[in-house]
Amino acid sequence: MHTISDYQGYFLEYLTQKTTTKEPKNLYEPINYILALGGKRLRPTLVLMASEIFGGSYNNALDAALAVEVFHNFSLIHDDIMDAAPLRRGKETVHEKWDINTGILSGDAMLINAYQLFESYEGDTFKKLAKLFTKTAIEVCEGQQYDIDFETRDDVTIPEYIKMIEYKTAVLVGAALKMGAIVANAEESCQSSIYDFGRLLGLAFQLQDDYLDAFGDPETFGKQVGGDIIENKKTFLYLKALEFCSKDEQKQLQGLFSLNPDDPSDKINAVKYFFETTGAKEATREEIEAYTQKAFMALKDMNISEDKKSLLRLFGENLMNRSV
Ligand code: IPE
Ligand code: IPE
Ligand code: MG
Ligand code: MG
Ligand code: MG
Repeated sequence: MHTISDYQGYFLEYLTQKTTTKEPKNLYEPINYILALGGKRLRPTLVLMASEIFGGSYNNALDAALAVEVFHNFSLIHDDIMDAAPLRRGKETVHEKWDINTGILSGDAMLINAYQLFESYEGDTFKKLAKLFTKTAIEVCEGQQYDIDFETRDDVTIPEYIKMIEYKTAVLVGAALKMGAIVANAEESCQSSIYDFGRLLGLAFQLQDDYLDAFGDPETFGKQVGGDIIENKKTFLYLKALEFCSKDEQKQLQGLFSLNPDDPSDKINAVKYFFETTGAKEATREEIEAYTQKAFMALKDMNISEDKKSLLRLFGENLMNRSV
């Protein structure tokens, strides 16, 4: 076994090795741009880590790890178009730096390239990886559509929100870990427990992403703080604030979420005031902690050594305490 930062390092080295410049430039430059922008590299790290946890070598898992990271970055290019986001990892988003059509097509090429990377696996392993990837990718699309549909609905419930974030974000975290387990030929019960651990951690992760979108430090967050408020996203913060406030305040908050002002700063401040004073901010922190603990519970009966479980728990704790 290696440390979390070792796995990140192995992945980054492989990414650099695999990066090439091809023609047409306007298709490939945006791809190299987004992949080189950095990010936390969580998902590929999880693929490599899971592979070794189940007795495989990280080396055999590098293509699956790259596939997951390429897919994730594809989804970010398209997500930033859909969310009209100007900033990603502290830099201009692809559709801002180039244009929307470039973002669409470079994103498409990345999705196809992600599939292509599974071609290095043989027979049964290939089939299992491709099947899991297809199922996950279609769920991400479903989650993204719910996310957009919810922007213009005023009756979204918490269970609907949880299902939406499960699909748009959590299933890919589960799939990353399960891919590592597949490459290592882990037994089925381990594959499904590690998937569940990742799925639950992924729910905590998206709740934290929503939290940081409102309360993150603009200096370090790398995305536009308040972006979800501008876009009227029905986040846990918003849904809890509605639940906790009076009828009168509900009307005010819903009113704010029906506006799209040219200068959004007053709207952002007013909405954040609701998030804080209603206790929604605190409730979100508690929910992040609760899902992280649920994830740890999924490890309980798994047939791996205690030090491997500790590594997975450390990963989860780092996620919960992040500021990016
Ligand atoms: C952003 O994912 C999209 C979500 C699912 C919240 P990350 O927060 O993992 O983004 P990077 O790759 O580290 O930039
Ligand atoms: C994005 O959720 C999930 C996917 C990219 C599939 P968000 O829209 O919250 O992600 P960020 O905040 O832009 O990274
Ligand atoms: Mg977004
Ligand atoms: Mg989005
Ligand atoms: Mg977000």
